[in-house]
Amino acid sequence: MRYFEEHRPVYHFSCKKGWLNDPNGLIYYNGYFHLFYQHYPGGVTHGPMHWGHARSRNLLDWEELPIALYPDENGMIFSGSIVYDRDNTGKFGNGKKETLVAVFTHDQICRGEKIQYQSLAYSTDGGMSFKKYAGNPVLDFGLSDFRDPKVFWYAREEKWIMLTAALNKILIFSSRDLREWEKESAFSTEDMQKNEIWECPDLCVLKDGEGRKKWVLIVSQNTLDYAKTGIRYFIGDFDGNHFVDETGGDRLWMDFGRDNYAAATFEETKDRIVQLGWMNCWAYAQKVPEEGFRGSMTIPRELFLLETPNGTRMGQKPAREIFDNIHIQRLTENKVVQDVLNGIFEIEPQGDRGEIFIKNEYETLSVSFDYKKGWISVDRSGLCCNLGDEFAELRKMRFWMKEDRKILLVVDTTSIEIFAAGGEAVGTFQFFPERPFQTLEVRMEE
Ligand code: FRU
Repeated sequence: MRYFEEHRPVYHFSCKKGWLNDPNGLIYYNGYFHLFYQHYPGGVTHGPMHWGHARSRNLLDWEELPIALYPDENGMIFSGSIVYDRDNTGKFGNGKKETLVAVFTHDQICRGEKIQYQSLAYSTDGGMSFKKYAGNPVLDFGLSDFRDPKVFWYAREEKWIMLTAALNKILIFSSRDLREWEKESAFSTEDMQKNEIWECPDLCVLKDGEGRKKWVLIVSQNTLDYAKTGIRYFIGDFDGNHFVDETGGDRLWMDFGRDNYAAATFEETKDRIVQLGWMNCWAYAQKVPEEGFRGSMTIPRELFLLETPNGTRMGQKPAREIFDNIHIQRLTENKVVQDVLNGIFEIEPQGDRGEIFIKNEYETLSVSFDYKKGWISVDRSGLCCNLGDEFAELRKMRFWMKEDRKILLVVDTTSIEIFAAGGEAVGTFQFFPERPFQTLEVRMEE
């Protein structure tokens, strides 16, 4: 279903009405990619959270479905994940074999104090409706910041693993039946500052350049005032109990833009890891222009590992369905293209340096790159909207994959996603011009 307001993206999922943040419960099941999401249908700011629901066959055309989870006596429904309980280990749904089990955070105010705990709901009709488990919550330590359970099946030991965020730690639990959970370990790093917290952990397996399987821990990092946000990742190993980071050193960020947060990966996609993020930033998310709806997701991306001269790094590219369904315009020389409200562009610079502008008569977003030195930057200070320092600051990233010069741009109404340096440098940026950006100008060194 597509709608046509001025700020409505075409390639990206946005809900018809109301507020949207994190993607939740991503799973491929029976021919559909299911996307649940943090949703407040009654307004355009964060409010009493529900799980909205949409599905798609091609990761591009989304069908919005009835709300999946409503707040209840245990609190609001915060972020979480869904698993396919193939062997019915949880014995939900009167012993019916096929159950999808949603594991989510209940957020509650209890005697004036915030408290968060983990709860379950299950579906026996392929995710079209959910029943909350009567024994909720299943994991409760009386903590005020304890949320965003990511659950997956750890086949080697035939057990479920749950990761949750608790301030600057990721707590890891295990279970045989999804109901009883035991603590395994905690992961943190020394570089975490006092005011920094983690949210929305995810753990997946990717192959490195030599075909070795690596466990990659992905966490969204925020500050308590919700200002500086981004997604970090760690490459290492997981033995069913502990995650060990093998990268160390510098902080590794998935996106050099500000507008990719709380990203999660789909369960059950077998041979590939497909990730989707909330295309926004807490620092200004509740201030961006709205038209009865506010917020959208990033383009779905496939994740892989890249061997760079600086070590193993995360690589990203749009999911193959995007290329199958959208025509790509290729630009190999300096050009001014009109009517670019939505489109995918592949730019192949012949020289080392260049700039790309998307603009209207008096506002510009500029992308600059230098393949010799290995950096790319985006400047949004040429936009009129006043969304604060986090929006206007120059964002710059160094990269090492200097040989692969193609730059892919996904432009969609109010956003641009940039995939450069073979997927090593990826940036997601929203823009809200006073009049739609319709011109794309490419200026490259010959
Ligand atoms: C991340 C987050 C999660 C939480 C949800 C609430 O954006 O803060 O930690 O579960 O949003 O909507």
